[in-house]
Amino acid sequence: MEQQDLLIGIDLGTSRSAVVSNRGTRTVFESVVAYPKDLIGVRLLGATHVVGDEALQKPYLQLNYPLKDGVIQGRSEQERDAAQKLIEYAVSLAEPRDGDRVCAIIGVPANASKVNQDHVLEMALQVMDIAMVVSEPFMVAYGLDQLTDCLVIDIGAGTTDLCAMKGRLPQGDDQVSLIKAGNFIDDLLCSSITSRYPDIQMTTAIARRIKEEHAFVGEPKERVEVELREMGKPVTVDVTAEVRAACEAIVPEMVEQLEKLIRGFDPATQETAVSNIILGGGGSRIRGLGQMIADALSSYGDVKVSGVKDVIFTGAEGALKLANDLPPEYWDQIGNTELG
Ligand SMILES: Nc1ncnc2c1ncn2[C@@H]1O[C@H](COP(=O)(O)OP(=O)(O)OP(=O)(O)O)[C@@H](O)[C@H]1O
Ligand SMILES: [Mg+2]
Repeated sequence: MEQQDLLIGIDLGTSRSAVVSNRGTRTVFESVVAYPKDLIGVRLLGATHVVGDEALQKPYLQLNYPLKDGVIQGRSEQERDAAQKLIEYAVSLAEPRDGDRVCAIIGVPANASKVNQDHVLEMALQVMDIAMVVSEPFMVAYGLDQLTDCLVIDIGAGTTDLCAMKGRLPQGDDQVSLIKAGNFIDDLLCSSITSRYPDIQMTTAIARRIKEEHAFVGEPKERVEVELREMGKPVTVDVTAEVRAACEAIVPEMVEQLEKLIRGFDPATQETAVSNIILGGGGSRIRGLGQMIADALSSYGDVKVSGVKDVIFTGAEGALKLANDLPPEYWDQIGNTELG
């Protein structure tokens, strides 16, 4: 039987991961691995672990998010194990068949350290034949065919990744990864609501829910009033100022780094680059954000910020496109070495 290539694009995200393949797989799952706490759990689960969305439906399991700050943690044995299982699971979703040559391109945050990229690569090679690790914003850019004179902003849960596309694989100076992203907003929102309303029961999960429904920056168009619990009883509170402040908190550093990246373009292409800023990732849904970034950069020219339509799959689709365009034999020559 002739060997077939199963090509997979994987966006390994802090909160959720997306997998697409050249055979039509297109799926997304929570980046979580759960283990039973004891023997009762093993019996209830009927397995030693479970990966993805199913994990969240079983309260008797202990959850492990192996990509906490956007990169594989790998500090403890269990973290390494969880990361390995996450990658295994992603590959299994693409349903490899006997005799396939399994080849995957995996996106990690821009500027993930060399050690971290090697970690991912090593784990990937346990469950596939050929692998390449590329930066997340580069994958987004590749997926959108924006390979030159543009800037990509990918606001995820763990990191905000910025990347200047200059018609080549991004080098160290072309990309930046900031830890002020979705999780940072959740933490800030949680603590600011708590400090204004000390009796309200808050968790970061509640903060995230409020954010996902109401996130905005700039002047509020309407009040954000949410129902929360005070000493167990439902109350309605106004959190407009808190939501605004928490969302705006990621902007200054992002703008500062964007300015650096703009200055890194050839002067002849700076004008085009600022008119071609692409905003992706779950955090790109914050209302008013594109406008705020454009206003902050207005002294650089005619700035245009456009949002990615499909925030879930654009990265993974970009990885698959690259996998289709570049014969797997060449991958390990360029993927891991040019980055970070
Ligand atoms: N409507 C929304 N408004 C604001 N933030 C949102 C919205 N929807 C989702 N998010 C946030 O987007 C983040 C998830 O985005 P995404 O799936 O791109 O991240 P990720 O790829 O898992 O993380 P990373 O890229 O950092 O590894 C979460 O913090 C989530 O709360
Ligand atoms: Mg992401």
